[in-house]
Amino acid sequence: MPCLNTLYAILRPESFNEYRLVKFDVVVIGAGAAGLHCAAIAAARGKTVLLLDHAKRPGKKILISGGGRSNFTNYFIEPEKYICENPHFCKSALSQYTQWDFIALVEKYNIAYHEKTLGQLFCDDSAKEIVAMLVSECEKNKVNFSYQTEVLKVGKLDDGQFTITTNKSDYICSNLVIASGGLSMPKLGATPFAYKVAEQFGLRIVPTKAGLVPFTLPPELKDPLALISGVSMPVSISSDTASFKEDMLITHRGLSGPAVLQISSYWNSSENISIDLLPAGDFSAELEKAVQEHPNSQLKTFLGNLFAKRFVDTYLNLINFDSVLLKQLDHKQKNFLTESIHNWKVKPSGTEGYRTAEVTLGGVSTEHLSSKTMEVKSCPGLYFIGEAMDVTGWLGGYNFQWAWSSAYVAGINVR
Ligand code: FDA
Repeated sequence: MPCLNTLYAILRPESFNEYRLVKFDVVVIGAGAAGLHCAAIAAARGKTVLLLDHAKRPGKKILISGGGRSNFTNYFIEPEKYICENPHFCKSALSQYTQWDFIALVEKYNIAYHEKTLGQLFCDDSAKEIVAMLVSECEKNKVNFSYQTEVLKVGKLDDGQFTITTNKSDYICSNLVIASGGLSMPKLGATPFAYKVAEQFGLRIVPTKAGLVPFTLPPELKDPLALISGVSMPVSISSDTASFKEDMLITHRGLSGPAVLQISSYWNSSENISIDLLPAGDFSAELEKAVQEHPNSQLKTFLGNLFAKRFVDTYLNLINFDSVLLKQLDHKQKNFLTESIHNWKVKPSGTEGYRTAEVTLGGVSTEHLSSKTMEVKSCPGLYFIGEAMDVTGWLGGYNFQWAWSSAYVAGINVR
């Protein structure tokens, strides 16, 4: 196949809007967290960079993240807090560009932030500041932006360069960085674009599913719990392979809150979830003490001291237990109650899916990628970064840190 370079005049990037075929050192597809950061880092090294997105504006997910305040990283970033077929893969990137590097950038822009809980860092004011910072880094380094741009086709020339055909112009570049994210929240512009490009270049996709997502419940659980939606409580929640101690929120659709979102990433659809409703206490001991001290109290009254009153009535109905006087409880009933409180078995009917999921589990298999650079080993110049890959973090700023770290290592390695 003849090289396109010889068929078209190669025009200067600064004037790219006026011409149909323009050459850049680097084209980044996807102006989300990873794409914005990578574009700025590559451009700071003197590379000519085009950052394109089909959306009207950059960083839509950043803007809504953390309830509008963006949980942009975490003090306690560790490889163990990422899910990937290869648990070692994320180590190199996370150590080359750490949470402290991103925090330094945030501080350079005088963005005020605070730790909310468990090392999670949020903007004091607004997630808009993070997007403005990333865009400013791009502009400072002369990244070319092209929004509302649909990529129609991607190809590779015999000389190793890539071609990108869009609804606006055609481009060629020496490095193509795919930063188009995963499938979560299609209404914000999520597409399977990265997986399609990966498949085109012969890369395997680890099966995808919604992660950090609320559980839906069968009607016999959902209907009574819906009546007390809004109740939140600290729990310890476990699947066969993981356990988290955080808050659980009852909603009109099922179960949500940080504990549930966390465990959803480890849950297989055939599994029961075990919920400890009193993770910091010993229910059996509390009950025995109450029986001794207040034998004529109602069980309901005793439970009302430990849990929200609305929850107590609903929960006793769910476990088919009538409120009796504490002194009337026999040994078997006490054991049953203790088991029900410390090990409430719930079988979710499913999850809310990509519509509300914060992340996509699975994605482009890391077996094809260099862990040091994110470059495809069999296709020099092609990179995958961010959520498109089979690397998924816990709730709490871990996913943005993966976006920043993977973007950085690609940005400093593009040629
Ligand atoms: P991201 O999805 O950010 O960007 C992909 C970009 O590619 C988008 O701009 C999209 O428009 C573009 N694109 C897609 N298909 C395209 C195509 N075919 N052509 C051109 N462009 C295309 N994480 C965290 O650490 N802390 C938090 O507080 C939160 N909060 C949060 C809230 C909500 C509601 C969600 C949905 C997610 C979070 N996350 C989070 C997760 C976090 O947002 C996510 O992991 C990162 O945004 C991933 O960054 P990427 O750049 O890889 O993808």
